[in-house]
Amino acid sequence: MLAIFGGKPVRERPIAARPLVYSPEIIKDIEEVLRSGALVSTHGKWVKAFEEELAKFVGVKYAYATTSGTTALHLALKALGVGPGDEVITTPFTFAASATAVLHANAVPVFADIDRETLNLDPASVESKITDKTKAVVVVHLAGHPAEMDAFMKLADRYGIYIVEDVAQALGAEYRGRRAGSMGHMSAFSFYATKHITGGEGGAVATDVAAYAERARLIRAHGETEKYWYEILGYNYRMTELQGLLLYHELRRFDEFQRAREEYVKALLDGLSGLEGEGLLAVPRPKPYVKHSWHLVQVLLSVERLSKPRDFVVDALRSEGIGNVSVAYPVPLYRTPLFQRMEGHGRGCPWSCPFYGRKVSYERLPNAEWAAERVVSLLVLPNLTAEDAADTAKAFEKVLRELRR
Ligand SMILES: Cc1ncc(COP(=O)(O)O)c(C=O)c1O
Repeated sequence: MLAIFGGKPVRERPIAARPLVYSPEIIKDIEEVLRSGALVSTHGKWVKAFEEELAKFVGVKYAYATTSGTTALHLALKALGVGPGDEVITTPFTFAASATAVLHANAVPVFADIDRETLNLDPASVESKITDKTKAVVVVHLAGHPAEMDAFMKLADRYGIYIVEDVAQALGAEYRGRRAGSMGHMSAFSFYATKHITGGEGGAVATDVAAYAERARLIRAHGETEKYWYEILGYNYRMTELQGLLLYHELRRFDEFQRAREEYVKALLDGLSGLEGEGLLAVPRPKPYVKHSWHLVQVLLSVERLSKPRDFVVDALRSEGIGNVSVAYPVPLYRTPLFQRMEGHGRGCPWSCPFYGRKVSYERLPNAEWAAERVVSLLVLPNLTAEDAADTAKAFEKVLRELRR
C-alpha cells in the first residue's frame, strides 16, 4: 500500500540534504577572518580570490561577486544598459528571478516558448518575439542543461541584441566544449544553498568585455567612481568575506562534488529505465554535444496514463521518504498574479511606462504549459548516494504502477 494511504514507506529515514562537513582548514580560515574583523570585501582577500578562481573556472576575463543570483541578473541587465522602454525576452519555465530582474531594470519581460526535449528556451520561438523594442534575451540553462547558445548568439548578431546567460542552475555545464557563462555578453550565477556551490546566499556576474565588467563593478557599489562621487545609479550588491571564503573553498571541490552528483544521476536514470520503457515517464537525456551539470533531474510524467494528477504523485513520493522531490516549475511565470495584474513598481510601471508605449499580452505558451503539468524534479546534491537513487526509483515504481490507469 502507498505510504500516503498509510502503507510502509520505501524509506524509513527520508532522503534529505545533509550539511556539508567543513574541513579544519576552512574552519581555521573562518576564524582568521572573524579575528581580523575584515568582514567586508573592500578590506579582505577572499571575495577577490573567489572572483579570480570563478573567472578562470568559467573561462572569462572578469567575474564580480554579488549578494545573490537575483542581484547578479539585475546587475548584468543594468550593465548592458537595459532600461525603460526595453523588452527582454525570457522563458516562463524558470524561477521568478529570470524575469523579475527585468522588471527591476524597469524593462518589460516578454515570454517565449520552450523546447520539449531540454525544457530550455526555443530559439525559433525567441526569434518570433523579437521587436524593435527588444534589447536582450535572458537565456536560462535550466536544471544544468545548457541552452542552444550558438543559435542565440546568431540571433544577437542578426538583431543587435544582448544575450544574458542565467547560469544559476548550471555551474560547470558545457555547450560544445565551452563552459556555461562564457558565451553570452554577460552571465549571472547563483550560490544559494541548493546550488552547485554555496555561500549560504551569493551570486556573481561574468563577462569577457571590459566595458561591461567596469559598468557592473561600478553599479555593484553605488556607481561611485571616487569616494562620495556618484557617476551613475548604483546599488550595494557586494558579497561578504565569509561568503567569499566558503565559495572559494567550495569551487576548489567542484570536481569532487560533481563526481558524486553524476554517480547519483546515473543510478537514478538506470533505476527509472523500466518505467520509461512502460511509457509512464520520460527523463530527457542530455544532448550529445553538452555536459549536463545536473542541478535537477527533470522527470516528465505521462499524466494522461495516471489516475491522479502530478501534485498527488509528488505528495505520494514524499510520503515514501523521497525528501528531495519538488516541482520546478508548477506554473509558467506569465500565469502568476505578478504578470497578470501588471502592477510592478506601482502605477503599472514598467508596463505602463510612456517610454514603452505598448501593451504586452501574456498568452499561454503550449510547451511551457505541457511541461508545467507533468514535471517532477529531483534535487541533485553531492551527498546523495546510489542507494538513495535506487530507493527513489523504487518509490517511483511503487507510486506510478499503483496509479496507472
Ligand atoms: C534559474 C534561476 N535564476 C535565478 C535564480 C536566483 O538566484 P538567487 O536565489 O540566488 O537570487 C535562481 C534561484 O533559484 C534560479 O534557479
